[in-house]
Amino acid sequence: MSTSKRSVALPSSTAAATNAQQKQQPMGTKGASLPPLPRSQVAEHQRSLPIWPARAALLDAVKANRTLVLVGETGSGKTTQLTQYLYQAGYAGTLEKPQTIACTQPRRVAAISVAKRVAQEVGCWLGDKVGYTVRFDDCSSERTRIKYMTDGMLLREAMSDDTHALEQYSVIVLDEAHERTLHTDVLFAVVKDLQRKRQDLRVIVMSATLDAQQFAAYFDDARVVYVAGRQFPVDTFYLSKSTTDYVDAAFVAVLQLHQDEPLPGDALVFLTGQDEIEAVARMLNGASRHLPMTAAKLLVCTVYAALPSHQQMLVFDPPPAGTRKIVLATNIAETSITIPGIKFVIDPGLVKARIHNPRTGSDLLEVIPVSKAQARQRAGRAGRDAPGKCYRLYTEQTFNETLEDVTQPEIKRCNMASAVLSLKALGVRDLQNFDFMDKPPRDALIAALEHNYALGALGDDGELTELGRQMSEFPLEPALAKALIAAATGTESNSNGSNSASQLANGAGASSSATAKQTPSVRDSAMVEVDSRTLAKTRPAVAQNATTSALRRQPCVSEMIDIVSMLSTENIFFTPSDKREQAEAARAPFRAPEGDHITLFNVFKAYLKAKGDAEWCRSHFLNQRSMAAAESVRKQLRGLCTRLGLALDSCGEHDRFSVRYALLCGFASKTAVLQPDNSYRTTTSHETVHIHPSSVLFQQRPPPHCVLFNELVMTSKTYMRDVTVVDQHWLAEAAPRLFSSK
Ligand code: CDP
Ligand code: MG
Repeated sequence: MSTSKRSVALPSSTAAATNAQQKQQPMGTKGASLPPLPRSQVAEHQRSLPIWPARAALLDAVKANRTLVLVGETGSGKTTQLTQYLYQAGYAGTLEKPQTIACTQPRRVAAISVAKRVAQEVGCWLGDKVGYTVRFDDCSSERTRIKYMTDGMLLREAMSDDTHALEQYSVIVLDEAHERTLHTDVLFAVVKDLQRKRQDLRVIVMSATLDAQQFAAYFDDARVVYVAGRQFPVDTFYLSKSTTDYVDAAFVAVLQLHQDEPLPGDALVFLTGQDEIEAVARMLNGASRHLPMTAAKLLVCTVYAALPSHQQMLVFDPPPAGTRKIVLATNIAETSITIPGIKFVIDPGLVKARIHNPRTGSDLLEVIPVSKAQARQRAGRAGRDAPGKCYRLYTEQTFNETLEDVTQPEIKRCNMASAVLSLKALGVRDLQNFDFMDKPPRDALIAALEHNYALGALGDDGELTELGRQMSEFPLEPALAKALIAAATGTESNSNGSNSASQLANGAGASSSATAKQTPSVRDSAMVEVDSRTLAKTRPAVAQNATTSALRRQPCVSEMIDIVSMLSTENIFFTPSDKREQAEAARAPFRAPEGDHITLFNVFKAYLKAKGDAEWCRSHFLNQRSMAAAESVRKQLRGLCTRLGLALDSCGEHDRFSVRYALLCGFASKTAVLQPDNSYRTTTSHETVHIHPSSVLFQQRPPPHCVLFNELVMTSKTYMRDVTVVDQHWLAEAAPRLFSSK
């Protein structure tokens, strides 16, 4: 194993950073900079990378080609080096007209960690010459010349830019193209279109897998450059009999290899999510206490999206002498990040994916098998420094006969609602014939158009309404954006919601009225040119009584922002398995009989009152970092609402009706009604669902008659998560395009 490579891994935070240096750090940088590396060390590292010998040829190719496809093994230096080469070659504009080199990443963790690393190599503070922008966390400035960003953020910038031309960027590097996330695919199309308008724009598509021809073909036969990788052979082993308990199998495999294999040689285990990672970490930490005194020690490190980034960075540190590092990671370690020292890979062959069902309109997080290409990529992680071994926790027959060859692009299986709103905001009229690399399934496109239509974001003509334009300004899924805008409107005295503000919230806009429509208007429009289904035909009829109109709705943007901020943040609660009851008791005062959204609001209010005190968070079993993240989201959403002219009104703490009604305006399509057997049936797709055990409504007796929910998760049953009680009678008024009144 090359020790020289290890010595250039990120130094831990103990390395010297003087106070004076810290003072110079740009404002607003949440992720702290790492101390600069010594120049000689940087130079040695950069020259050791496989991409280095190709530097001149690469720059020549960029000069001669407006679009380039760059293929190279993970770890060859594409992400960290190419941007620096471009910067040095003068692609960051001139003093008079500075421009920025953008590099997109599918994952926010990757964008942040790579930006940190490059800032460190360049020797600047993060957010200065090198920065990053991810949703709700912008660590860039007008001085930023190399900007790592999530692909979603670049899309957002294109939307908010009046000309949609992204003039500030000289080069757009679309990284991790092989992952084919929905955002990347949408960006491909947007950037390709942009190149017609901007002759000067350079586009570089980067991929870690060899099937680059499809990218080249899509970009009008773009030139492909290959960087020779450095890959040692990896022996692959399979299970002789398949297992269903891969968590346990992974645990056993780690202990086995730890016992059999000499040091040095760290192991990387691919798991599907935080829960499993934490479970395996607990098991390993428990087992490591019982290792014989003479045995090598185990050091367990974890990497997953929700982990605070300073903890993510720990995986790059070499383990102490006499210790084997075990990295438990999600798919992020497949191609986005390179961890030095890995000699063993343990691969259960699974990945968590969001699967959309256009028929029912539901999104489910499901664990699915990886593709053969992914399995090979994972195995390759063991052969970066020296020959390695990969243990696949499934049979060879499964590999040969069950796994797909390549991963299906997300656009083929994802909810398109958000993407459709973005594309409409970018001025794309005809989505059916838009130049996607792979076309989304027609059903999914229609479902997304219908969803946006039901929310009032699209008009009868299939074009963006004023409400839709406003919704597209928020970096939120359409339903949440709609809930936020609906929260801005109240009822004038008994006006049946017909004042102009609530017309906007109902999507009535100028052209169409919110009253029940008899004509199948959607069919006429460009948006569902070929489809015969119409919303008007399928609108379920629901009883409407006087309640809604009689109750006065107050504007409640302030409350809704708090709720949306909490929903946008993961892992608010932590519940150690041995302190479950204690945690429940500590959080009991926050529980709201109206459901999870108001409960989240109560938690947030109490947190703000406690001024984010660490001890307070601990004693209430709340994750302080997550709460701080929610607070930062809140600040940004408040700023955004103010800019968009939505007053930050509060309905006062005793009015729970206004908030729930506004939520319903966004989530009317995700509502369910109690059945005689105590299960629920969704109102629009008629699925049988249940309240998730994590919901405060799980044990509520009697169970609420009608609820809204944010998402469905499927484990043993289909569960609704983030559930709030609503009144069925509100449906027709809250979502007139979805329900007609009886
Ligand atoms: O993009 P690609 O996978 O080709 O490589 P990269 O991300 O640019 O990483 C090149 C090398 O930089 C890795 O092999 C690591 O040695 C190093 N690196 C690091 O030490 N710390 C990081 N956060 C990122 C990269
Ligand atoms: Mg990379």
